[in-house]
Amino acid sequence: MHLPLPDDFHAHLRQGDLMPGYVRDLAAQFGRAIIMPNTVPAMTSAKAIAEYKKEILAAAKDVRPDFEPLMTFKLNPNYTEQDLKDMMAVGVVAGKYYPAGVTTNSADGISDFEGIFPVVALMEKLGLVLCVHGEEPGEFCLDREPAFIKRVEALAEKFPKLKIVFEHVSSAKSVEAVKKLGPNVAATITVHHLIMTLDDIVGDALRPHHFCKPLPKRPEDRAAIREAAFSGSPKFFLGTDSAPHQLGKKECPCGAAGVYSAPVALPLLVQEFEKAGHLDKLPDFIAGFGADFYGIPRTQKQVEIVKEPWTVPATVNGVVPLAAGETLEWKIKR
Ligand code: DOR
Ligand code: ZN
Repeated sequence: MHLPLPDDFHAHLRQGDLMPGYVRDLAAQFGRAIIMPNTVPAMTSAKAIAEYKKEILAAAKDVRPDFEPLMTFKLNPNYTEQDLKDMMAVGVVAGKYYPAGVTTNSADGISDFEGIFPVVALMEKLGLVLCVHGEEPGEFCLDREPAFIKRVEALAEKFPKLKIVFEHVSSAKSVEAVKKLGPNVAATITVHHLIMTLDDIVGDALRPHHFCKPLPKRPEDRAAIREAAFSGSPKFFLGTDSAPHQLGKKECPCGAAGVYSAPVALPLLVQEFEKAGHLDKLPDFIAGFGADFYGIPRTQKQVEIVKEPWTVPATVNGVVPLAAGETLEWKIKR
């Protein structure tokens, strides 16, 4: 079966020695990807982002020489219009809003909501997309996302021309909110939130490699996310939030949040969409609606996927991937 080559509208690649392996895993499945800026140090300047992009391209070369990283910066209230223009000149298409402390490397995130309005106004003016990690600091863990919806609604109302992506929606309430808001508000959906509930993290045993933010929630939340992904609505598209952490950072007393889905994303999606009887909705979900929303051309490239069972390795580049040890039905033909 041929599919359009997928775009990943939300991926983490880290930096340093581990980064090239993660880039190759991602580029093996995707033609383009939004690269998240929560590196250490964070991506906050045109110079750092240009350098990071160069390293990503160099690492992708052997796997997919035409891989396109779509760069982002971490939002803070201090950027000038010139800063944003300089970042756009090196390939930045979006800024990422991390509320303070809600996820990996977000201690330097936003605690003064209204303090970001001037920079968000500039982003609206320049046509930069605002990607939002929608969780309210300080709330009970399962309520953090629903408690943040009011902020997305406030942003959409105050900045009607701003494109907002409610990243990795994990609750029925946020799916509902995104549906109700105008066409400038969309949401990404991850592979793991399509598949898992909280039971898959703590229901029977503690499964640290499934632990991520936002937490997968109740069966009815997962049902709403699946319904949105299978609905053919252009407001919902793939962003894997593939987030590698080395095995030792997950299997320890205070483990990091993140699911490594890049090595299995496309086979798992084909499997899930097929099982649900919605294979016809997969091409737009993986390679249509996201590009339309970001205002970039839809890909002309294709990938071949064949029904050929394979077992997902226990580790990939030192990370335990999603579905490790499981047999998947579909395989990407290289
Ligand atoms: O589980 C997560 N991991 N959620 C995020 O928002 C960030 C990511 C990471 O960077 O590890
Ligand atoms: Zn993320």
